[in-house]
Amino acid sequence: MNNTPTWYQMDHIANLVNEDLHDLLVLATTNGIKLQKKSGTITVHRNDLTRLFEEISRDVPRRRHVLTKSLLPHLDLPWAKALKGIYEEDAAWPASMSPQQGEFLRSLIQNINPKKCLEIGCFIGASTLWICSALEDCGNNGILHSVDLYGDKMPFKHIKYMFLLDALSYIQKRLDEAELSHRNIQHVGHSHLVGSQYDKLIGDELDFLFIDGDHTIEGATGDFLLYEPHLKKGGYLMFHDIYPEVCGWDGPAHVINSIIAKQPGKYQFVELDTAPQNYGISLIKKIAK
Ligand SMILES: C[S@@+](CC[C@H](N)C(=O)[O-])C[C@H]1O[C@@H](n2cnc3c(N)ncnc32)[C@H](O)[C@@H]1O
Repeated sequence: MNNTPTWYQMDHIANLVNEDLHDLLVLATTNGIKLQKKSGTITVHRNDLTRLFEEISRDVPRRRHVLTKSLLPHLDLPWAKALKGIYEEDAAWPASMSPQQGEFLRSLIQNINPKKCLEIGCFIGASTLWICSALEDCGNNGILHSVDLYGDKMPFKHIKYMFLLDALSYIQKRLDEAELSHRNIQHVGHSHLVGSQYDKLIGDELDFLFIDGDHTIEGATGDFLLYEPHLKKGGYLMFHDIYPEVCGWDGPAHVINSIIAKQPGKYQFVELDTAPQNYGISLIKKIAK
């Protein structure tokens, strides 16, 4: 079930890309993009979004993640090729974890050899592929459950080119290309809704939990409170984007400081600096239930 709308409001888009609505309407019509009035607001059809964002970001310089040298020798392998393809997308920067962080995650999974993993927030699939490729190497029937709204990825603040239609189909295509589809189960929907049906949808306890979804205090706290009880004693939890002053989000830091750090008998944790931006990772081991 995909909850993407067919018509997008132009005032909402103007807001997303920080442009004047009138300028945007002129840009669309002069480029032959049809607009329609619906319930009093001017809208654009989903099929025209790609062209609209191409026009909006025509002169905006792209930023890209740079592949790490240690990944390059693997590029004849399907999983590495698929990841390279993801990192070549305009949309990948900065929301996908960097290759440096991905290699850390891959190596962590290879070392802890988990059977059941869950990630909240997969965006266009970079973290998904890093984890699934490691599970494949472990050869232990490990599975990654991924929870995301999937749907269309829209630009964000000044990153006007961060756009990709239908993330779910995109990720499935990349997983097939990586020959890793058998390692991933996708749950489409709000993480709080999926988490409230954990027993039915996911089942037994987790060895590894990665929280990288809604980064607001309310969203990250809700994810932690819903999913952490399903993490085994001895299991690992990872947060991305833990330094609000760099990444601009305060949810993960809030959970770490106000819940995790206050229970030293239950968790051991370490904060890791990350490259190339120090958005930060926190790695937490649950040592007591
Ligand atoms: C920062 S991106 C994840 C990046 C990904 N882990 C990676 O490194 O490749 C955050 C993702 O969380 C998803 N998300 C945000 N709020 C959510 C929610 N309440 N439920 C499910 N997914 C959510 C967004 O759709 C987005 O794809």
